[in-house]
Amino acid sequence: MAKNQKDYFYDLAQKEGYRSRASYKLKQIQEHSHIINRGDTIVDLGAAPGGWLQVAKELSRGRVLGVDLQKIEEIPGVTTIKGDITADSTIEQILEFAGKGGVDVVLCDAAPNLSGNWALDHARGIDLNRAAFECAKKILKPKGTFVVKVFQGDMFKDFFDDVKSEFVHVRAYTPQASRSTSAEIYVIAKKFLTAPIRRGQIYAVEIKELGASGDGIAHIDDFVIFVKEAEVGDIVNIKIKDVKPNFGFADAVEKLDALPDNPKYNNPVQQRTQTPLSADFEKEKEPRGNMKRDNYRPLKEEKEKEKRE
Ligand SMILES: C[S@@+](CC[C@H](N)C(=O)[O-])C[C@H]1O[C@@H](n2cnc3c(N)ncnc32)[C@H](O)[C@@H]1O
Repeated sequence: MAKNQKDYFYDLAQKEGYRSRASYKLKQIQEHSHIINRGDTIVDLGAAPGGWLQVAKELSRGRVLGVDLQKIEEIPGVTTIKGDITADSTIEQILEFAGKGGVDVVLCDAAPNLSGNWALDHARGIDLNRAAFECAKKILKPKGTFVVKVFQGDMFKDFFDDVKSEFVHVRAYTPQASRSTSAEIYVIAKKFLTAPIRRGQIYAVEIKELGASGDGIAHIDDFVIFVKEAEVGDIVNIKIKDVKPNFGFADAVEKLDALPDNPKYNNPVQQRTQTPLSADFEKEKEPRGNMKRDNYRPLKEEKEKEKRE
């Protein structure tokens, strides 16, 4: 982005009454991925001075909470907490806001104080991302949305894969309002999974019936899994290929003589599919400026799949 474009968002924020140019990043994320619906309850982690809170409140008109180390000046209809999102005491207050019903959207634009040391800043950023991810898992409603800013580096892929195992759709996106010299990218995760199974993991099951399409059907904790090329009565190890909010798909990977004593087992470390990022996203354009950065966009099929659901 040219220098005058950078200033453009700063000037626009001043003119339109937003507290930060970051407001336009959230607006662009909304335009790109439609993450906020009218009536949504939203928690924004690392929210000061409040540009995202203003936009979140405008879009949802629902309950909105902002959390930051810094005090956030009052925004009508928005609750704020001054606290550290990595501290248990702050998480307790957030849980109180979320209540038993949970929240629809968790946003996190938190950034550590930058030292200028790329590796250190990346590691500190990932710590914040993981704190936000843990918080999101505690408070999101089933099918909820999580959006988090990540500073790219070698720990990005592991974090991205971890988020992927908890949501149906996950993509990475850089809004135009991000500065061209920044390594930031936003991970946008939709449809939080509450299923008892996870993509890439192995479970031992018995095929109880056949589905209309001829796939075998197994159940784990009442959750339905369609298993390719399996017959009624088969006892098999299955590998989960895909998880939807209400059912999953799997391949039979090994016939068994009998169900083990503990038929359901997970081996997330070895069994999780290590899908390369390139399989989910194709590169949109070359890195901007001199910084090493990637700008991905979801494959067309991924977008179409999302539309169908
Ligand atoms: C880029 S600013 C957020 C801008 C905001 N989205 C907006 O639109 O105004 C990043 C914020 O993360 C906050 N932050 C960094 N570490 C934090 C932590 N451990 N707990 C809470 N907030 C944190 C910083 O204080 C800073 O205000």
